[in-house]
Amino acid sequence: SKEKPWAGRFKEKTARSVEEFTVSVEFDSRLAYWDILGSKVHARMLARQGIISEEDAQKIIEGLEKIWREIESGRFRWRSELEDVHMNIEAALIELIGPAGARLHTARSRNDQVATDVRLYLRDEIDDLCRRLQGLQQALVDKAEENIQVIMPGFTHLQHAQPILFAHHLMAYFEMFQRDRERLADCRRRLNYCPLGSAALAGTGFPVDRHFVARELGFTAPCANSLDAVSDRDFIIEFLGAAALIMMHLSRLSEELILWMSSEFAFVDLPDAYCTGSSIMPQKKNPDVPELIRGKSGRVFGHLLSLLTTMKALPLAYNRDMQEDKEPLFDTVDTVKTAVAIMGEIVAHLKPRPERMREVCEEGFLTATDLADYLVEKGLAFREAHAVAGRVVAYALERGRRLWELSLEELRRFSELIDEDLLERLSIEGSVARRNSFGGTAPERVKEAIASARTRLSQD
Ligand code: ARG
Repeated sequence: SKEKPWAGRFKEKTARSVEEFTVSVEFDSRLAYWDILGSKVHARMLARQGIISEEDAQKIIEGLEKIWREIESGRFRWRSELEDVHMNIEAALIELIGPAGARLHTARSRNDQVATDVRLYLRDEIDDLCRRLQGLQQALVDKAEENIQVIMPGFTHLQHAQPILFAHHLMAYFEMFQRDRERLADCRRRLNYCPLGSAALAGTGFPVDRHFVARELGFTAPCANSLDAVSDRDFIIEFLGAAALIMMHLSRLSEELILWMSSEFAFVDLPDAYCTGSSIMPQKKNPDVPELIRGKSGRVFGHLLSLLTTMKALPLAYNRDMQEDKEPLFDTVDTVKTAVAIMGEIVAHLKPRPERMREVCEEGFLTATDLADYLVEKGLAFREAHAVAGRVVAYALERGRRLWELSLEELRRFSELIDEDLLERLSIEGSVARRNSFGGTAPERVKEAIASARTRLSQD
């Protein structure tokens, strides 16, 4: 096998088992695009500073571009004995252009190189993920607007609570994903500093221009401390934290869709194209997609904990342990991106069943709070009103009747304050319309929320 770039002080060949144990190229080759991007700017900087010649820099850049075309088209031969993406590309460059290629690694180490690659990679992936989240938010707003007249039972403790607009429920998720996007933007802002020029850990004696490199790669500035630059993985952990929250939100939405699709709820329907069947039970139409999203939240939470644990006792600066950051990161990126995208499709194809939701609204005592509120308006203190309404509910329950099926005469036995105008107050529509405090479920408020959501979406 080819000699390793670092083999100078070694007298023996690396054991095969060690090569197999330490290799990372099968997963970090994913960083090739950003590795080459960083190397090109590094080469240009070396020439500008007179550290290498312009001709050598030119050869390096052309060589790297040729290598990228090979990688992109799948013609590049990755060699596991060259360990990782960085040494594979460097070795290929030297093979391709000769001595000039051997000058690329001047004033650089794989430690600042890998830290830069991952930041560049993650910055792009964050932008992609944000666009997907926007798509999902768009689907939620569209679905909310389309179904603005649909009323559903709202729950607390998974018990019927108060009637709400289905649109209001959807818009709650809009807010969660809005916060998720803000968190990602924040994470992006903090990770956008350039490690290059920190070299192995101490900086370099070559007259590098770290500011030029940072600027050319779109970073805000170079990282301030060379030790921190090569040993910081906070930005990955932060991203995994943000990703874990996204998955938690997706999982809650999934859980609701699964419940709502059951025949016990039967609140929504999903088209066949988004469901799967059973190999034994012919009648089945299962919500496997939301179930898998819910399930995949577990692996993302695991990745977050795995990297925190990997990092927690590492002395400064670089340690090989940190190579273990990549698989959890890549798997999280893949998982979250696909989960967000498919949830967007599901929301877009969701069909609420307003009649069924209505039926359930009428089953429970969802307007019992309205009865209490009514008594308060007539002068009763809320605590007393609550007790009166509670006794009315118990009375109706015992007789298997609904609130509005009680006669005025029966109702007046509980309080003299009750009049005919109560009946309108106990209607589902009336109950929803009255909850018009800012952020409430009244149709006018939800329409405002939808309008504000559209503005917020168009602003970024
Ligand atoms: N493959 C390594 C990683 O991902 C690159 C940096 C290796 N540096 C070193 N000195 N071994 O962490």
